[in-house]
Amino acid sequence: MKASLRHSPLPHSSMPNKVTIVEMGARDGLQNETLVSTDAKIELINQLSETGLTHIESGSFVSPKWVPQMADSDLVFKNIKQQPNIIYSALTPNLQGFEKALQAGVKQVAIFTSASEGFSHKNINCSIADSIKRFEPVLSAARKQNIPVRGYLSCVIDCPHDGSTSADQVAHLAQVLIDLGCYEVSLGDTIGTGTPIRVAHMLEAVQNKVSTEQIAVHFHDTWGQALANIHQALAMGINVVDSSVAGLGGCPYALGASGNVATEDVLYLCQGLRIETGVSLTKVAQSGWDICRALNKQPSSKVSLALMNKALIAK
Ligand code: HMG
Ligand code: MG
Repeated sequence: MKASLRHSPLPHSSMPNKVTIVEMGARDGLQNETLVSTDAKIELINQLSETGLTHIESGSFVSPKWVPQMADSDLVFKNIKQQPNIIYSALTPNLQGFEKALQAGVKQVAIFTSASEGFSHKNINCSIADSIKRFEPVLSAARKQNIPVRGYLSCVIDCPHDGSTSADQVAHLAQVLIDLGCYEVSLGDTIGTGTPIRVAHMLEAVQNKVSTEQIAVHFHDTWGQALANIHQALAMGINVVDSSVAGLGGCPYALGASGNVATEDVLYLCQGLRIETGVSLTKVAQSGWDICRALNKQPSSKVSLALMNKALIAK
């Protein structure tokens, strides 16, 4: 009986067979770290390019006064070894950022707003409505250049300034981003307070407005719930997950928020659920240890620490 249970099919029939990981370490991770050299960023992205990842967010074309850590993104893009089967994307909050990204040879960009007014003002210095107005020329320029645009929506569960976010507001704005022309909307639990029931409620509202194929999830792991929330999202058919090598990062405008869920932990979860990712866990973990050595810290990924304890990663 026990043996047949062990080999029984997945309990959730709506779980996807394959998940795409959108790697955030070089952008969401390193935007929160000081003193990272341009060479270390390039080395990280080149190493991640050998792991099987197909989408690596590699920088931001934002104001260097707001986020100095990303001020060298043009140099990063010009010097990484771009592989043809990998998307190397960048954040572009406005037309100025989009034009700089184009000059650096970026072929996919992302716009970002918030489901809460407080975070929108703190992060991008304008209301949600004004951010959408800023995005219109970006989307129209991107269309002319054949550049796909991803949309991020922050604070989909709670906002550090405004408290809890209504699921209807998230669903409405997710639809606005898709109607603007984004090919996908990534729903960000920026301060990592979400739990599976709240996440399910929010995703259900979004799925009533936007097709599941156009939804990605982006969980920060501040309260240790990210893997449980990803499991919930997978059970609801979502098959694009943002994560950050070694769990690097946070958001400069959400104080105390820790990094995205670690890519290593998501890969191990997917392996356990028999969901294909096409990504090598040990290679990602090795990249994580290497960038952490440059940052003089340890990965926050439990899976990565376990691999190191078993001597499966080179010191
Ligand atoms: P602003 O000050 O309101 O913009 O900033 P402005 O249009 O009034 O311009 C002011 C100055 O900024 C001018 O320079 C512009 O040239 C310059 P000055 O004349 O003073 O010398 N400027 C720029 N410079 C370079 N690139 C640009 C650019 N735009 C204006 N693109 C702005 C508005 C949006 C630019 C600013 O607020 C900003 O850069 N914010 C950055 C926010 C950010 O990067 N946050 C972190 C990423 S989002 C995130 O992590 C969340 C996410 O992971 C999902 C989740 O977890 O929830 C995606
Ligand atoms: Mg984030």
